[in-house]
Amino acid sequence: MKSAVIFRLLFILVILLDCSVLSVHLTSNVYARDVNETNSQSSYHYYKQFIDHNDKSCGTFSQRFLINSTYYKPGGPIFLNTPGEGAIDLKIVEASGVSEIVASFNGLLITIEHRYYGESYPPIKNLNTPNMKYLTVNQALADFAEFIKNPPTDVIECPKDAKWIFVGGSYSGNLATWMRQKFPKLVFAAWASSAPLLSKINFFEYDQGVAHALPCRDRVADAFKNFIDPILLSGNRTEIAALKSQFGLDVLDDDQDFASAISHPISLMVQTYFPPTSPSEIDTIPTFCAAFAQAPDNKSETSALILAQVTKFFLNVSGIITPDAIKANFATSALNTSVVPNDLVSFLYQLQNHQNKGELDPWKSLTVSGSNFRTISRNKVFLIKNGSHVNDLRFPTSVDSDSLKCARNFIRNTLAEWLCVKCATDVSGFIKCQVEEELM
Ligand SMILES: *[C@@H]1O[C@H](CO)[C@@H](O)[C@H](O)[C@H]1NC(C)=O
Ligand SMILES: *[C@@H]1O[C@H](CO)[C@@H](O)[C@H](O)[C@H]1NC(C)=O
Ligand SMILES: *[C@@H]1O[C@H](CO)[C@@H](O)[C@H](O)[C@H]1NC(C)=O
Ligand SMILES: *[C@@H]1O[C@H](CO)[C@@H](O)[C@H](O)[C@H]1NC(C)=O
Ligand SMILES: *[C@@H]1O[C@H](CO)[C@@H](O)[C@H](O)[C@H]1NC(C)=O
Ligand SMILES: *[C@@H]1O[C@H](CO)[C@@H](O)[C@H](O)[C@H]1NC(C)=O
Ligand SMILES: *[C@@H]1O[C@H](CO)[C@@H](O)[C@H](O)[C@H]1NC(C)=O
Repeated sequence: MKSAVIFRLLFILVILLDCSVLSVHLTSNVYARDVNETNSQSSYHYYKQFIDHNDKSCGTFSQRFLINSTYYKPGGPIFLNTPGEGAIDLKIVEASGVSEIVASFNGLLITIEHRYYGESYPPIKNLNTPNMKYLTVNQALADFAEFIKNPPTDVIECPKDAKWIFVGGSYSGNLATWMRQKFPKLVFAAWASSAPLLSKINFFEYDQGVAHALPCRDRVADAFKNFIDPILLSGNRTEIAALKSQFGLDVLDDDQDFASAISHPISLMVQTYFPPTSPSEIDTIPTFCAAFAQAPDNKSETSALILAQVTKFFLNVSGIITPDAIKANFATSALNTSVVPNDLVSFLYQLQNHQNKGELDPWKSLTVSGSNFRTISRNKVFLIKNGSHVNDLRFPTSVDSDSLKCARNFIRNTLAEWLCVKCATDVSGFIKCQVEEELM
């Protein structure tokens, strides 16, 4: 929860650094297929992976992956997808918009777990520092490269000339980009959604992005600036305790943990914003802001009270109800380092009252659509208007905006161009997209 949570979609960046090998062998009779169809349609597989790619004598671990050959036809590309910092999950894979694109190209979809997540752990007893030394981006990239070079032939047979397309969103969008950059011979193209390629320590632009997306940002900022912050900074433990109690967060002893916990629901709401797809779903941002508009007055204290109610509601619907659950989610002291030896870095969270122009994803300024990357020329970038984090990886819905529909179209067309194939799914007439205008 605390780590920058990376769920939704905002933009799409498809990267191709070297367009020289474009021929696709549609007539190839060596093709990827499941060796055991029953098995592959219903269960997880495990790949024998090197613990240390720099010293292969260190042994191996089991890296988990899923395979879906429902749409696969000989000659189709292989889409390699990873959720990055999270376990792979069959249900999530099925609900992903990636499969729709995979279907368009008669592709094979492989979803692979990142080392140190889910079940894909090297054989370690605890998370102390020496044991974490194999959790590096380079080792993770080498895992994927190894998988592409030596696919698990007990489960799939991949033709040597198959085109591998790496797909990821957010951190795994970075991985997709880096895979293409580092292993251009193995990775034909990368589809990177909302990838924050730039790293930044004091990433205040994230909070600016959150503020930008909220029509009621002034009321929220006012609550923090004129009610919450003065209490937290007063040092008056009685008042601080009463404030925490108002938010249902009495169990958080540390004031910074508390500050982080109360900014979390708002950030998450913006980052994961998507219009409701059914009448039973709440339209989060407008509902949140309506509460301020309907309040009897606009005093700082009243705004803080509304924030407190929203926070309690969020905790309830998130199932974070018991004191233990609250501590586990928000308290930096909750990790018992005598049980799980680890080195922790505490962090600060700030809500700032700045505004900027741009779309809704708070991560936007670290992606290629941020000003730092405008000069990238051989790659294609699409900005989803009013989109939030990783929207293009979501399964299509009836409420998809025109811009999101165009984004899906853009991915199809770009890949079709690069693969030199016509899409199996006809997208002409899908929606009229002025892609030129939206290219950055
Ligand atoms: C295929 O996988 C299923 C499910 O794991 C297993 O029961 C069956 O024995 C496997 N068949 C072969 C031929 O390996
Ligand atoms: C494969 O994809 C199809 C279509 O999205 C889905 O119905 C099926 O459940 C998927 N199977 C697996 C094992 O992911
Ligand atoms: C702390 O706040 C309480 C409640 O507002 C008040 O009664 C008390 O005097 C304050 N203590 C100090 C040291 O200011
Ligand atoms: C509260 O309302 C008054 C009067 O409408 C307005 O002048 C003021 O800017 C508002 N304050 C906030 C924080 O919205
Ligand atoms: C959580 O929400 C449910 C449904 O609205 C409600 O019945 C329950 O009392 C709430 N629990 C807490 C701890 O607020
Ligand atoms: C941490 O775990 C140890 C060993 O189980 C236990 O003795 C200790 O009380 C725990 N500390 C906290 C703060 O929970
Ligand atoms: C963007 O989303 C917000 C929040 O739902 C909505 O109020 C606004 O009308 C949308 N703007 C556009 C241009 O779609």
